[in-house]
Amino acid sequence: MIININKISTYYKIKKQLFTKPSWNYALRDISLSIQEGEVLAIVGESGCGKSTLGNTIAGLLSPYSGNIQFKNQTILTPEINHLKENKELRRKIQVIFQDPYSSLNPQHTIKRIIGSPMLIHKLANYKDYKEKVQYYLSLVKLDKNLIYRKPSELSGGQRQRVGIAKAIALEPEILICDEITSALDVSVQAFIIDLLFELKEKFKLTILFITHDLSLVRHISTKICVMYGGELMELGQTNEIFQNPKHPYTKALLSAVPTLNRNKKPYILKGEPPKTNEIYEYCIFYDRCPIRENQCKLEKPDLYNINNHFTKCFYYNKV
Ligand SMILES: Nc1ncnc2c1ncn2[C@@H]1O[C@H](COP(=O)(O)OP(=O)(O)O)[C@@H](O)[C@H]1O
Ligand SMILES: [Mg+2]
Repeated sequence: MIININKISTYYKIKKQLFTKPSWNYALRDISLSIQEGEVLAIVGESGCGKSTLGNTIAGLLSPYSGNIQFKNQTILTPEINHLKENKELRRKIQVIFQDPYSSLNPQHTIKRIIGSPMLIHKLANYKDYKEKVQYYLSLVKLDKNLIYRKPSELSGGQRQRVGIAKAIALEPEILICDEITSALDVSVQAFIIDLLFELKEKFKLTILFITHDLSLVRHISTKICVMYGGELMELGQTNEIFQNPKHPYTKALLSAVPTLNRNKKPYILKGEPPKTNEIYEYCIFYDRCPIRENQCKLEKPDLYNINNHFTKCFYYNKV
């Protein structure tokens, strides 16, 4: 096990407006899961369900309200401790790539500096060899090495995302958190970036956390899928299990929105709105939109049931 996430909750404090009390956004509630070395774990769910909050918490960019995270059996994050902030070497090992490389790559800097200066900071290169190393990482992401003197604005979206990948890989991480990295790109560019990512995964033996709102995207690339809803973990299992035998009605709804060649398949359209995360649900958070709900679901919150390592937070998983 490379990462163990134990009952993590991450909240945002919403600033007080005139005449209102300060309040909380309960963005992530009581998430537990573990990630194995070399695995590709997909985190999926609608926009606002807490995927980025989870990724950013694992990377130490946010402090949790409660819970803890272990990296290779060492506790690295609790509400009081953030070893990722304090320990440069540890921080290097968990890299995040964001959806919009334009905002994560400094527009004033050249590609050489964007990829090179973190390597210098982490002593993975020196002034003599860093230009050569930057060119090596550009070649790994299949970019022309003459791009080193360009700035992000002179590149296309796909090229910028490849620079983002090169910058992360250049720090020789063990874990790569990819947060909607292809969402802003055309479909053809998307496929290219994903192929590239998996080539690099094999080459450097990476563990990948792949965050996306698009369930169809992860069918062929992830080993496991974690489905989130309103900040909660609803279902977690092997990718083929999730696709062939979903055990949560929310996952089933997400799957029915995935295009297939089967014309007889009736899509199940989710009615209503995603839950508001400014309140804590003491009952099933999917209740309001659930097609198979029963009285019990409004009275108490289901546990996360474990059926042969396929986890679901639904009392009626047998009826899904
Ligand atoms: N910086 C922030 N301050 C306050 N609320 C936030 C912040 N970032 C995200 N949120 C809220 O937290 C919840 C989860 O957001 P996020 O993790 O970005 O979801 P996702 O990545 O799945 O779209 C949403 O309700 C969102 O509005
Ligand atoms: Mg997000």
